[in-house]
Amino acid sequence: MLLLSVFSTLLVVLSIASPREAYRILAVFPFNGLSHYAMLGRLTEELAARGHRVDVVSHYPLKKPRPNYNDIVSLAGTIPFLNNNMTYEFGTKELADDNLVHTIATTFGGDLCDLMDLPKFRELIKNPPQDPPYDAVIVEIFGSTCYLALGQHLKVPVVAVVTSPIWPWANDMVGNPDNPAYIPHVFSGLSGQLNFWQRLQNALSLWGVKLTFAHYTANQNDKIKKYFGPRAPSLDEVQRDVSLILVNSHHSFNGIRPFTPAVVEVGGMHVRENATPLQKDLQKWLDDSTDGFVFMSFGSMLKLESFPREKLLAIYSSLAKLAPIRVIVKVANATELAPGLPSNVFTVPWVPQMAVLQHKNIRAFVTHGGLMGIMEAIHCGVPMIGVAMFGDQAQNIELCVKNNMAVSVSRDELTEKNLDAAFNAVLRDSSYMKAAKEMSAKFRDRPLSAIDTAIFWVEYVTRNGRTSLRSPAVDLTWWQVALLDVYGVLLLAVVLALYMLKVIAKKAVRVVIGSDRKMKLRTKKKE
Ligand SMILES: *[C@@H]1O[C@H](CO)[C@@H](O)[C@H](O)[C@H]1NC(C)=O
Ligand SMILES: *[C@@H]1O[C@H](CO)[C@@H](O)[C@H](O)[C@H]1NC(C)=O
Repeated sequence: MLLLSVFSTLLVVLSIASPREAYRILAVFPFNGLSHYAMLGRLTEELAARGHRVDVVSHYPLKKPRPNYNDIVSLAGTIPFLNNNMTYEFGTKELADDNLVHTIATTFGGDLCDLMDLPKFRELIKNPPQDPPYDAVIVEIFGSTCYLALGQHLKVPVVAVVTSPIWPWANDMVGNPDNPAYIPHVFSGLSGQLNFWQRLQNALSLWGVKLTFAHYTANQNDKIKKYFGPRAPSLDEVQRDVSLILVNSHHSFNGIRPFTPAVVEVGGMHVRENATPLQKDLQKWLDDSTDGFVFMSFGSMLKLESFPREKLLAIYSSLAKLAPIRVIVKVANATELAPGLPSNVFTVPWVPQMAVLQHKNIRAFVTHGGLMGIMEAIHCGVPMIGVAMFGDQAQNIELCVKNNMAVSVSRDELTEKNLDAAFNAVLRDSSYMKAAKEMSAKFRDRPLSAIDTAIFWVEYVTRNGRTSLRSPAVDLTWWQVALLDVYGVLLLAVVLALYMLKVIAKKAVRVVIGSDRKMKLRTKKKE
């Protein structure tokens, strides 16, 4: 009896000492895009804040240590920096529509698999910690699908994060419906209801994107064998081993489409209300902009300095006409800009974007359409002028235009006249601001915040196992999902039935004619 009560006390003490839901999680983020990391880093930091032990492999080790958070392998400096280091030329050629998927699959894909060659990474694969062992692994799904092999290697669920609306190649991993009849894929530039030609375009480009990605990532199969050993599962197997995908979209903005439970929309998860405060001089400048200000940024990667001269001069002339409205422009290195910036413009190499978007004097946001910035602007209810450069940006801006909260200016027609017209519309017509506020309210109207939703589902699959959200569709081929085999059999049955009908009809006709003839013969004989 005594023994039993001692034992049960011990159990209680143990369960308090090690809460059941504190997991050890490995997070591996081989791509170094800073905007992607805004979302990925938010998740790992929040998991650590909620008591999970998080080991992170990334290009962005923490500057200040945090409890429960360990930068187990730093990738900083291993590959060329993208942040503030992408030229207009690169953005519009390497990432142009016809080259984008190839670049993602190779430069941002297969090439990054070789980060596993780092001695610290090899050690992590060879001797993963056992004190305690990992309960789950988090990876980004972008170009490097080789990292999905960590799940089977560690025998834990794989949680994947997609920093945009779901990539076409991620749908098949979890059997998520992506019917191109009514789901415009992320690179289509389309949105809403599609007409016949748009459906044709959407379908062909969806299949094209998937085939291209599969073709250029096929060599990642060898990389898996190289780093995880010859008996490691194939690329195809590890791609179908994803337990959960968190995607950066929300139906209020991206539109209505079906999701299998393994795909969870956490659009705006990276948004932090109490963001980094503004620098002192910037705070003063914005506070003093009593006629309002416009915020212009082409994101963390693209350098405005590298824009073609005539486009820069067009921007200058148009901005000058906005006075007394002032303009704050994010420029990595303003000394490299072509001369002639108007006097109502203030340049900064870096801005705490949320703090600027939340400022009471903001009138509009000029953006390249990067999703992180767009979602922050939606969250804050700021109307936009969008100049899409590459990737999902065209669709992001198209969606803002559809929601009446933005005007789009084509990158190739970035002229003074077009910019003037866009500013005139967004700054003079209050309907844009009104629509932005309405969108903001809809975007935030959820049962659970985006980050709480993400944490819940990460814990859910860790608790309930790697197949707890697995769709039966994952184990069917594409033609089985499309019911081609069923249509085939039905078609065969109809053809067979028609054939038999024809045979029977022929026989019947022959019998009738035959008996008719016999009859005639008989009557002849009688005569
Ligand atoms: C910037 O990009 C160029 C071209 O890709 C690369 O050669 C260079 O190393 C990068 N700079 C840094 C600091 O990584
Ligand atoms: C800015 O550009 C100038 C001219 O190219 C260069 O001398 C300077 O070092 C750059 N500054 C920074 C902070 O990169």
